[in-house]
Amino acid sequence: MSAGSGAARTSTNPNQQATGATFVERSRSYVDAKLEQILPPEVTSPQTLHKAMRYSLFAGGKRLRPALALAASEAVGGNFDDAAPVACAVEMIHTYSLIHDDLPAMDDDDLRRGRPTCHKVYGDAMAILAGDALLLHAFRVLLGHTPAAIGPRLLTILVDATWAMVRGQVYDTLGGFEASMPPADRVRQTHELKTGALIRASVVMGGLCAQPEPDSPDDAAVLARLDRAGACVGLAFQIVDDLLDVTQTTESAGKRTGKDAQAGKLTYPGVLGLEASREQARRLLDQAQAEISDLGAQAEGLRSVFALLHERTR
Ligand code: IPE
Ligand code: IPE
Ligand code: MG
Ligand code: MG
Ligand code: MG
Repeated sequence: MSAGSGAARTSTNPNQQATGATFVERSRSYVDAKLEQILPPEVTSPQTLHKAMRYSLFAGGKRLRPALALAASEAVGGNFDDAAPVACAVEMIHTYSLIHDDLPAMDDDDLRRGRPTCHKVYGDAMAILAGDALLLHAFRVLLGHTPAAIGPRLLTILVDATWAMVRGQVYDTLGGFEASMPPADRVRQTHELKTGALIRASVVMGGLCAQPEPDSPDDAAVLARLDRAGACVGLAFQIVDDLLDVTQTTESAGKRTGKDAQAGKLTYPGVLGLEASREQARRLLDQAQAEISDLGAQAEGLRSVFALLHERTR
């Protein structure tokens, strides 16, 4: 695959980015309505727990993982409804990971999605429990709302991705790498695990939901393409997140920026420098586009969401 060459380079195409923004907006309102339906109401006892879950889930996240899942479903001939449980589940797991990521024992952040972090409003204990509850509810939704024929496979993918996220957070927060591992490999491994895995799973699960015969050779080949594209996009996403920490203001990002270097985090800009990090993210996104280039017009939504990711500013 000639990553980054010629016509595949769409990561800077403004028309495609405009289409991507429209797609994300459409999928955001779709998934917000679904989340509203499937989440226990605020009056459920204990009320503070359910308030805390809703506080973080409806705080104004970009909903990019659901957008990727819904777009991947469309890319292989499905629709939003096919992938709705996956879209909701990945957003709940992502939100849980952010609540825990912000805790004093982790990144110790007080601002998230433009609001005080969950633990700042509800206290550490409730934030930990709200995260746990979102994590468990995600699996409940996935199992309760997907066809039995693909439920176990979806479950395995989501468990593995969440587990990868936890391992990545350990490397990010506490280290534990092989002593001989060079910094560039450490940061790639950390980012693929803590962020890449869930994004990759969002893409592949979205596709799987729309595959009537995931074991046929043709469908398996398409899923493998989505999987490779998702892996590239997942890593690129965290590289861009690292860049935003350096280049954006707290106001524009909706979370404290300039913190990674201060906290001694292993980041792409820290290891490769700003320009090489930008280039690396661009190469990965171009590679992702190349992976799905054969999927035809129905993959336009997915292409347009990929195209947004390099230029995002929050
Ligand atoms: C931020 O993710 C944390 C990472 C894993 C990089 P997003 O940038 O998707 O955050 P929200 O969901 O829009 O708040
Ligand atoms: C978060 O990475 C990865 C998660 C699994 C939540 P960061 O710590 O860089 O995310 P932000 O910058 O706080 O959103
Ligand atoms: Mg972190
Ligand atoms: Mg953080
Ligand atoms: Mg960050």
